[in-house]
Amino acid sequence: MRVDVFFTAREVGPGDVAGRVVAVVDVLRASSSIATALAHGARAVVPGESSEAIVALSKAFDRREVRLAGERRMRMIDGFDLGNSPLEFTRDAVEGHTVLMTTTNGTGAIAATQGAKEVLVGAYVNFSPVAAVLRAAARRGADLAFICAGHEGQFALEDAACVGRFVRHATRRVAGATLNDAALAAVQLDRKFGDDLWRLFETANHGQALANAGFAADLVACATLDAHLVVPVYQDRQIVRLAAPAEA
Ligand code: MLT
Repeated sequence: MRVDVFFTAREVGPGDVAGRVVAVVDVLRASSSIATALAHGARAVVPGESSEAIVALSKAFDRREVRLAGERRMRMIDGFDLGNSPLEFTRDAVEGHTVLMTTTNGTGAIAATQGAKEVLVGAYVNFSPVAAVLRAAARRGADLAFICAGHEGQFALEDAACVGRFVRHATRRVAGATLNDAALAAVQLDRKFGDDLWRLFETANHGQALANAGFAADLVACATLDAHLVVPVYQDRQIVRLAAPAEA
């Protein structure tokens, strides 16, 4: 079975993820916010590529049923209900609502999964349940692909390290796994930072940018391993919570 990592969505070519089990990882912060929203009772998160697309999507709903969420340059979009801070996706804010969301890189990475067999959304906050699903797929011999959202269209250290951790867990004692060079590099990054996620975020450009913009508390939230035991799956253009992981 193959395991291919793409450090940005731009690297994903036609057919690269066809038929595969794919995980999209945007540790800072879209994946973490999506997992938090679903853990706190959001019905679904519907990704859109622009604020205009989100407003257009919202017309199909009763306005009271939806929360418009997203950021540009890390800040909440004017007129929206929520930004992209996991701390904003409280039960009070999202329970029973559909979250319509656009972010600079994360929601675009989700759009790059066309043709995949199954699409999961992972981060440190929901690491173990997502890793369990990936591991079950790997043991069945399914090919895996990981798409890092990146930062401002570029490689992001925190996404690569988190993907490395997923690759390690998914392929442990799985015979015949062939990793591309990006997957091998991601594994090395995970080994370098290990469980010291604070050092990882302090080192990463995106972590520094968020801290400088006043979002240091988000870094703490995004570094909380397994805070939310949910598996977000993207199907029929929306992200919903998988009922239970396939393997403990
Ligand atoms: C993104 O999608 O690029 C990020 O989630 C940006 C952010 O930190 O808000």
